[in-house]
Amino acid sequence: MAVTEEAVLAALRTVMDPDKHRDVVALKMVQGLAIREGHVGFTLEVERERGPRLEPLRQAAEKAVEAIPGVLSVTAVLTAQAAPRPAAAPQAPAQPGKILAPGVKSIIAVASGKGGVGKSTTAANLALALAANGLKVGVLDADIYGPSMPRMLGIAGRPSSPDGKTLDPMRNYGLAVMSMGFLVAEDTPMIWRGPMVQSALQQMLRDVNWGELDVLVVDMPPGTGDAQLTMAQQVPLAGAVIVSTPQDIALIDARKGLNMFRKVDVPVLGIIENMSFFLCPHCGERSDIFAHGGARKEAGRLGAEFLGEVPLDIVIRETSDEGRPVVVSKPESPHSEVYRQIAARIWAKIGGGTARKAPPRISIQ
Ligand SMILES: Nc1ncnc2c1ncn2[C@@H]1O[C@H](COP(=O)(O)OP(=O)(O)OP(=O)(O)O)[C@@H](O)[C@H]1O
Ligand SMILES: [Mg+2]
Repeated sequence: MAVTEEAVLAALRTVMDPDKHRDVVALKMVQGLAIREGHVGFTLEVERERGPRLEPLRQAAEKAVEAIPGVLSVTAVLTAQAAPRPAAAPQAPAQPGKILAPGVKSIIAVASGKGGVGKSTTAANLALALAANGLKVGVLDADIYGPSMPRMLGIAGRPSSPDGKTLDPMRNYGLAVMSMGFLVAEDTPMIWRGPMVQSALQQMLRDVNWGELDVLVVDMPPGTGDAQLTMAQQVPLAGAVIVSTPQDIALIDARKGLNMFRKVDVPVLGIIENMSFFLCPHCGERSDIFAHGGARKEAGRLGAEFLGEVPLDIVIRETSDEGRPVVVSKPESPHSEVYRQIAARIWAKIGGGTARKAPPRISIQ
């Protein structure tokens, strides 16, 4: 029997807040409700001070939902209530149930079905290329378990909080950046459950002072798990870019990633083939070490646009591993040009029109 959101909410309406004598649904405490094949997860947002006392409420909520026929497991997590937001005009068009980041015009996800295909490298260089094209750009590192952006964008330290409730993003190369890597020590083992991943992402989006951005680029974690679902369902995504390597197996995974976004009606902006061919650093000769061109063919078959191909080149790896992605450290290189062209295409596809004139000059030491 399929468990519905209505059934879960109806069960939760029987759970009373001990202090406020109203139910948790009426009090809008239930957030991030996710139902997958009988497994239910949600968070209960409570005021920070009341958190320690409300464990019985959390258990009562789990019990109430467990009683619904068809429910296999329930995970409820107490989270501290987010700071109240000023009633800012939502970005058009407001999508019910979605997390809004006021001031952020469009959000795009860089995703893949499989790990290690170069999502983070692509996300970092694309963000820089969008900025080089004259846009105001932010980067949200949604890889809670293995954040890459602090290293790739050469940013260390902790973000500051001007008011004790919201965080200012970190900045480098003209980008506003937020990553779990700024908040948690690198050697801390991160054990997150689904709802915790969701609330971490919600907070990184909603409780960060992103300011005015033309584009927020989201570096997605590999796979099609909780974080992807949260992003795909709750974040008002303008579209998703799928990164794939040319090997067939990666393409099968790319297809999974693509289908996930399509299922939740997020437009797939196109596919980028990464590590597309090998450019010899010594002689400049090009060899197609994998069956090059697979992504272009596959894109056609899947009805997605082929956005471009990025070669397998040690320069791309070294620069991003050093925190100086190729688009800023070698802007004249052909690779940077590829990223800028892909960025322009993406911007055009999300309805961006022409970028501002006179792109800011980014100088790096
Ligand atoms: N075009 C490229 N040429 C050379 N090296 C590359 C290229 N793209 C990515 N790499 C390297 O491949 C490795 C994996 O890349 P990256 O971390 O971007 O992948 P990912 O898909 O984000 O991985 P994960 O799934 O773990 O998040 C990195 O060391 C990166 O520098
Ligand atoms: Mg990554």
